[in-house]
Amino acid sequence: MTTTPAGAADLRTQVAIIGAGPAGMLLSHLLAAGGVESVVVESRSAEYVASRIRAGILEQSTVDLMRSAGLGDRLGREGHEHRGIYLQWPQERHHLDFVDLTGRSVFVYGQTEVQKDLVAARTAAGQEDHYEITDTALHDLGTDRPSVTFTDSSGAARRVTADVVVGCDGSFGPSRSSVPAPVRQTWEKTYPYSWLGILADVAPSTDELIYAWHPDGFAMHSMRSATVSRLYLQVPNGTDPQTWSDDRIWESLATRLGHGQDGWQLTPGPITEKSVLPMRSNVSTPMRHGRLFLAGDAAHIVPPTGAKGLNLAVADVGLLAPALVDLLRRNDSRLADAYSETALRRVWRCTHFSWWMTTMLHTSGDEFDQQLQLSQLRWVTSSEAGATGLAENYAGLPIGF
Ligand code: FAD
Ligand code: DHB
Repeated sequence: MTTTPAGAADLRTQVAIIGAGPAGMLLSHLLAAGGVESVVVESRSAEYVASRIRAGILEQSTVDLMRSAGLGDRLGREGHEHRGIYLQWPQERHHLDFVDLTGRSVFVYGQTEVQKDLVAARTAAGQEDHYEITDTALHDLGTDRPSVTFTDSSGAARRVTADVVVGCDGSFGPSRSSVPAPVRQTWEKTYPYSWLGILADVAPSTDELIYAWHPDGFAMHSMRSATVSRLYLQVPNGTDPQTWSDDRIWESLATRLGHGQDGWQLTPGPITEKSVLPMRSNVSTPMRHGRLFLAGDAAHIVPPTGAKGLNLAVADVGLLAPALVDLLRRNDSRLADAYSETALRRVWRCTHFSWWMTTMLHTSGDEFDQQLQLSQLRWVTSSEAGATGLAENYAGLPIGF
């Protein structure tokens, strides 16, 4: 790995990675396994990144990749494998068994846990990270000596010169807009609703996730462990979470999730986190320009319904790591040249699936739309072809699809 004399302003590495979220940290881990060194720079503190409550469901291909990368031990011990999900609407609840339908399953294992595992692996490997940096800027991306400059946590100006820069800096980072405007194309959709998400110290009231259509709005029951539940309610855009009291949240969840229906009961508990998540789709292309590559939320955002955001970030990195190893160790650019086009096939598949799940389950107030949604839900839960389509997308297509 790159060693820098104390106090020196400049660093040299093979891959400069911007962003220490799951995409950046997993990429650095996979590159190290392939014999390629990297430096990760991150604007937040390590503690902040590790404690952000975000995704909770890992699809089969994410789990396979983590295992093959030596990151599967705690996931195997503490993750919970789910065979499928429940889809419901008033008076009806149906289980879709992904294992029966596709031979693939999903795992409940929070993004916080994935992040901890990645940080532990990177620390054990003695890799170099810079947290709490400011003024991140990308330079010379059209040359074979691109660089990233920043101010480090002590206030010193630094430059990392690399062979390749990878933007893993999420939707608000500077990498995406470093692809020049004439080349860059962006597709975007903002949905007319948001999610109010809560974390609660109470055992889940269900063995597998429940996705519920209801005339009052969508609700979902997820979980993080045997003692921690994660639940969501559809709310209007611009909702202030503080205007929702804990009692109102539990009452709405009980109504929308069907408390009392066929004897099923929702057990409330202390709410430890409450936040509102706006929903949008966004794809920015190409995912490579010169010596800059984009991965994860830096290139695309999906609405959370269907749990694709984290999985898509992992899939990008699963393609990019071997491409960069070939490029930098064997001077073979074929996979790197194909990266953007290959990754975007999966990105658009997941963008469609997330849009489809979102529009099937969230109420817009339009009565015609409601009838279409209920018809779609009946078809997906009664036709093997319909159920298999949902299962195949939810449990995840193989890396490289
Ligand atoms: P991120 O995790 O966003 O990491 C990007 C990193 O880059 C961040 O740590 C950021 O601080 C850093 N960065 C940004 N700018 C700079 C800069 N200038 N310099 C240096 N570093 C910078 N997905 C699901 O599947 N299910 C969910 O339930 C779910 N819930 C979510 C809730 C919220 C509030 C959000 C925001 C996202 C949620 N997602 C969910 C999406 C999922 O968390 C993301 O898809 C996933 O985190 C993508 O990983 P990433 O590494 O690409 O980006
Ligand atoms: C979770 C989030 C999702 O968007 C989803 O579809 C399933 C689970 C979660 O946070 O647990």
